[in-house]
Amino acid sequence: MRAVRIIRINVLTRYYIMTNYSAPNGNGRLRIAVQKSGRLNKASVELLQKCGVKFIRSKNNLLACGQNLPIDLLYVRDDDIPRLIASGSCQLGIAGGNVYQEERLTEAGDSPSFPTPLRTLDFGQCRLSIAVPEGSKIKDTSDLNGLRIATSYPALTRDYLASRGVTADIVLLSGSVEVAPELGTADAICDLVSTGQTLAAHRLIELQPIFQSQALLLGGPEIEPSMQSLLNMLLARVDGVLTVNESKYVMLHAPANKISEITGLLPGAETPTVLPLEGNSGRVAVHAVCRESVFWEHLESLKAAGASSVLVLPVEKMLA
Ligand code: PRP
Ligand code: ZN
Repeated sequence: MRAVRIIRINVLTRYYIMTNYSAPNGNGRLRIAVQKSGRLNKASVELLQKCGVKFIRSKNNLLACGQNLPIDLLYVRDDDIPRLIASGSCQLGIAGGNVYQEERLTEAGDSPSFPTPLRTLDFGQCRLSIAVPEGSKIKDTSDLNGLRIATSYPALTRDYLASRGVTADIVLLSGSVEVAPELGTADAICDLVSTGQTLAAHRLIELQPIFQSQALLLGGPEIEPSMQSLLNMLLARVDGVLTVNESKYVMLHAPANKISEITGLLPGAETPTVLPLEGNSGRVAVHAVCRESVFWEHLESLKAAGASSVLVLPVEKMLA
């Protein structure tokens, strides 16, 4: 299984380098590995588009070239992303914490070139969980002793079971893990759960979450000095995108003598701008960027404190 995977990466990497680059890091372009299909694909590409990179996807669908910035995307299997960064074929990658942690627990994780998480992104939330068939005698992790558990995450599963002093046979499957109990190839599974629909459809009960995951922006421990400023710019833009996801621009009118009470009610607001209103009404306009979600409850509290004409606007871009 491992051997097959290593060969596949090498072929992919060689093909990529042959068709686009004379050597890794050779052309001053920043390469980012993203999942080619699956739960992270769309959000990963959207994040980079929100950072202002305009991509054109190549005919072979393996690559997308940045038109306005020297940043390219390489579409790969998510499991390959940590190793593509470790080998220097890509400088960055977006992968789930599940994939990253699984790989970190293998031999590859000992390499000094193994990537590190640069940012935790705001999507791809899921958990790796042990699940058992409805009506199973397995009621607790300890009941798995001596039984078979199917998973695509052998290292994380083994690590968790070992921490609980449990020894089970790991049945390694690269997909469709949820059908293993029905087929009689395993007594339990350890797989990703997001909405829980897959478990329900296969009459499996979630027994124990073992790892919480979300998307990570991964980077190698070192980057070529010539690419450092491009990387810094991209990271600042990623931070900007992550901040505006929650941020809102709030405008309201308030009694001048209630400013501190009103601004105290604005979630995650920094020093607001206070502007006089026409005429001598004793009221002022307050403008503030709220860096936390603004809910109806916040608006109701503001109104109760004397605010009026409350407007909440989305923030499109923000650079700290
Ligand atoms: C995962 C997992 C389940 C499904 C669970 O697969 O293997 O099949 O998602 O999601 P749910 O709780 O919302 O039903 P994924 O789509 O990540 O594909 P992969 O495991 O092949 O990478
Ligand atoms: Zn996967």
